[in-house]
Amino acid sequence: MSEIVVRQATEADLEVMVQLWRGVAELHQSIEPRVWTLAARADDKSRQHFAACLVDQDCLLLVAEDAEKILGFLVAWTKPRPPVLEPPMQGTISDICVIHSARRRGIGTRLVSAALEWFRSEGLTLAVASYATANDLSGPFWKAQGFAPYLVSALRPVAAAAGAGSERFGGDDGYFAGIAETYDRLQPIVAGPWYERGLAMVLDLVPREPKEGFGFVELGCGTATLTKMLLNGFPCAHGLAVDGESAMLEIARQKLVAYGRRAAVEQANILSYRLPECDVVVSSFVFHHLPPEKLPETFRRIASALRPGGCLILLDQMTVGPAWGKRIGRQGWRLVWRHTAEAVAVGLATQEEVDARFALKRRMKEEGKDVEYRHSAEQIIQVMQAAGFDEVGLVWRMLGYTVLMGFVPEGRQA
Ligand SMILES: C[S@@+](CC[C@H](N)C(=O)[O-])C[C@H]1O[C@@H](n2cnc3c(N)ncnc32)[C@H](O)[C@@H]1O
Repeated sequence: MSEIVVRQATEADLEVMVQLWRGVAELHQSIEPRVWTLAARADDKSRQHFAACLVDQDCLLLVAEDAEKILGFLVAWTKPRPPVLEPPMQGTISDICVIHSARRRGIGTRLVSAALEWFRSEGLTLAVASYATANDLSGPFWKAQGFAPYLVSALRPVAAAAGAGSERFGGDDGYFAGIAETYDRLQPIVAGPWYERGLAMVLDLVPREPKEGFGFVELGCGTATLTKMLLNGFPCAHGLAVDGESAMLEIARQKLVAYGRRAAVEQANILSYRLPECDVVVSSFVFHHLPPEKLPETFRRIASALRPGGCLILLDQMTVGPAWGKRIGRQGWRLVWRHTAEAVAVGLATQEEVDARFALKRRMKEEGKDVEYRHSAEQIIQVMQAAGFDEVGLVWRMLGYTVLMGFVPEGRQA
């Protein structure tokens, strides 16, 4: 392994720096797209920015390289602090990046040491760096460099704060905000045996080979259990998990960080969301929350986002065929009770938690914070066909829990 040198960057390094920066920027975009979505021509703007850094007296641009190539870079600044505070100036490290294959060779530490040396030579006593808390590598790295968090940045969309009317979904007082924290543990229990069986069925039905690369969107991802299953089952696929409830998405984000750029999370209301172009759309236990009059337009948006031959797999409770009598209807509750009793018996949940969850659901329904609709499978199939799906079928069913699958035409222009 050849010797690593840390030196000041020159114009000749700009192209490589932009490439390295792009990798970090895309990672951040996948972690929190509301904050770090890349603008058009972001590479050009980043190149211009780094070129300006090279001639800025208040900026230090360092690269680390071995005999073959640049392995990382760092951008540091001397910055004035608010005039009411002492000391008047601080050192700020705004960017650091080390290429994946060169990690664990002490390159980040060498770059930070060089920046700290520069701050000292400038007479500064404070050094500040910021990092994304959802980036698993960053916290331990900065801690090892002697940095400790002192400020938390918190985020919420302004539109939601102002009450964005029909575009808004979710909120701190909603049903899903109330159950987010315990969702992954309790949902497979209280939602009945069809919850996990249904998700496994959706995964089995994805019409792609395990090694195939394709893009999928999950609508109403909740804590992104299904997205995670698809990313595991299809290691070359990439997925976007969409939900309206920030408390659920926060958990989704944490669960998907490990997938890096293969996974992204977005907060949106499905009733107005424009899906990006993709090959597969999946959704589980969500559409019974959408009002019937909104379904035609929602399915049209899904169909037009799908590439030719693309498919939607929809798992949800739906009525099918003639109405059930009491005895068949009771079967659902009998199975839920048996399922929850088994979970309580083996210690997966307490009876109090299960009862509290059902009580919360009842209360939220009474307060109009958890609205559900009874769509029939026949009605949804019709709406899907009218929206542009040329082949739609009911492919799995357990009591009211149903999987519909629909394909858009092969030859269609997306
Ligand atoms: C029962 S949970 C299902 C979550 C997940 N798909 C699963 O199977 O565990 C329903 C999810 O749909 C989301 N949801 C319902 N209506 C929505 C809407 N109009 N826009 C965005 N998300 C919505 C809720 O926030 C919630 O996370």
